[in-house]
Amino acid sequence: MKPKTDRVKIGIIGCGAIGSRIAKSIKKDFKKDCQLTGLYDIDQEKADQLAKSLSLNKAVKKTIPGLIKSCDCMVEAVTAKNTRTIIRQALEAKRSVLSMSVGKLLNASDLFRLAKKNKCHLLLPSGAIAGIDAVKAASLVGIDTITLTTRKPTTGFSNNPYLLKKGIDPSKITKETVIFKGNVTDAVEAFPRNINVAATLALASQSRKKIIIRIIVSPKFKTNSHTVELTGKFGRIVTQTDNFVCPDNPKTSYLAVLSGLQTLKQYCTGVFVGT
Ligand SMILES: NC(=O)c1ccc[n+]([C@@H]2O[C@H](COP(=O)([O-])OP(=O)(O)OC[C@H]3O[C@@H](n4cnc5c(N)ncnc54)[C@H](O)[C@@H]3O)[C@@H](O)[C@H]2O)c1
Repeated sequence: MKPKTDRVKIGIIGCGAIGSRIAKSIKKDFKKDCQLTGLYDIDQEKADQLAKSLSLNKAVKKTIPGLIKSCDCMVEAVTAKNTRTIIRQALEAKRSVLSMSVGKLLNASDLFRLAKKNKCHLLLPSGAIAGIDAVKAASLVGIDTITLTTRKPTTGFSNNPYLLKKGIDPSKITKETVIFKGNVTDAVEAFPRNINVAATLALASQSRKKIIIRIIVSPKFKTNSHTVELTGKFGRIVTQTDNFVCPDNPKTSYLAVLSGLQTLKQYCTGVFVGT
């Protein structure tokens, strides 16, 4: 990746839990390397409030093209149906994109090709799991087995359409319960807001079809925990994260926000360690 020398202009689409925290860090901690030049949310009040809290009222943009025009790199942190179209728009305008919604990018080779063609980057953070660097290295010689076991509090699954359809009410679950066992494609479709890490693992390992996902919930779980286990010619890898939930959104792990920030920092400083 080409290191950046000037302060990179950042635009954020989606001013919810992740977008807001990234915006605050850019203003407070990363001001040497980047500047926040655009904020957009489909709910304009959210963008207005965030901009006000940062004394950056002029950063609010009324349209997505306006946001894209304002920045060198767009941070995507939306819960939109058309996330891919939004990312495509930015890449077509030759802007790099840091996308948090990795679950939307499982079949997105067209977008990665577009980024390459337009000499910009589509950056994906490691999210709420550890060891993505090692998973990528292991994939070079082939992975035999790969499992992801996710344990989350029941609160993160309220109003989930897949569970509603199955007649499962998460608020009535009283003990450890496996609510899903299956492949990545089905996991991401059933839990688009909860299991971005499955997509991250699939993209990093290049072994989507081998991955077995288990999601276990309990009202007693206090953290979002992810255990990844791989075997292959390289040996065996086991990683586990026990993540505090993001105070602004129980579906999101705090580590996922931090990994987005770290990816942005690497991009803006041009220092890439272990990536
Ligand atoms: N990579 C990971 O490990 C990871 C972890 C957690 C969350 N995520 C993903 O990151 C994304 C953001 O998560 P969050 O916790 O900040 O969600 P959030 O619900 O707190 O915020 C999402 C924001 O997007 C806005 N929005 C929705 N549609 C929009 C559109 N078309 N245009 C502009 N704004 C729009 C909403 O108004 C809201 O403010 C989600 O897709 C989530 O699944 C990824």
